[in-house]
Amino acid sequence: MTTLASPLALDDAALDLLFRDARSVNAFAEREVDPAEIQAAYDLLRWAPTAMNTSPLRLAVVPRGRQRERLASHMSEGNRAKTLAAPLTVVAASDPAFHTHLDVLAPHRTGLAESLEPQAERREGMARTNALIQVGYLVLALRSRGLHVGPMGGFDTAGVDADLLADQGWRSQLVLNVGWEAAEGGIHPRAARLEASDAVAVL
Ligand SMILES: Cc1cc2nc3c(=O)[nH]c(=O)nc-3n(C[C@H](O)[C@H](O)[C@H](O)COP(=O)(O)O)c2cc1C
Repeated sequence: MTTLASPLALDDAALDLLFRDARSVNAFAEREVDPAEIQAAYDLLRWAPTAMNTSPLRLAVVPRGRQRERLASHMSEGNRAKTLAAPLTVVAASDPAFHTHLDVLAPHRTGLAESLEPQAERREGMARTNALIQVGYLVLALRSRGLHVGPMGGFDTAGVDADLLADQGWRSQLVLNVGWEAAEGGIHPRAARLEASDAVAVL
């Protein structure tokens, strides 16, 4: 099979930045990350697809200080110190009330918001699934801006929701430490990945 590259395809340097050289970072060199970077990353990821354009991802940016300490208290033991130390931390969450935006996000789906309103459980499931898809886009959006990410699922989600996200009613899904550069020893040895032949089946 001959593959003809699209003239729009990213070059190898961009693919290295996004995928091949990108690593999950546990400890960052000291260089401040402006919370505006998270807004800029959101401005990119928001264009990537979600079911019915529901766009349920919400991001709580947690600078160092009192809020970071509160967040760290809900992290699992192994994730606590690095969350306290990171230049910037983001709680990626889903919004079960995403349907209240559907008049803007899905104006062609008349009556959808009204039909979802009483279906809290369905909305929570839709929000979780689509927010997680958007978290993947977030990682790539941050990398595309030259930032490094340390994603962590090891934390008490109910504790974070009650302690930090109660006002918004958001449900935490993943905590991401963000920085410009890894510190010495801040990256584990790279583990192998599956070969495409083990993960892709042409039916
Ligand atoms: C959904 C998710 C949850 C993760 N949870 C944790 C975690 O709780 N603690 C941790 O140290 N790393 C966590 N990681 C980091 C992964 O272990 C890491 O991304 C993976 O081993 C690949 O590492 P690499 O990008 O350096 O190749 C998580 C990553 C993802 C995507």
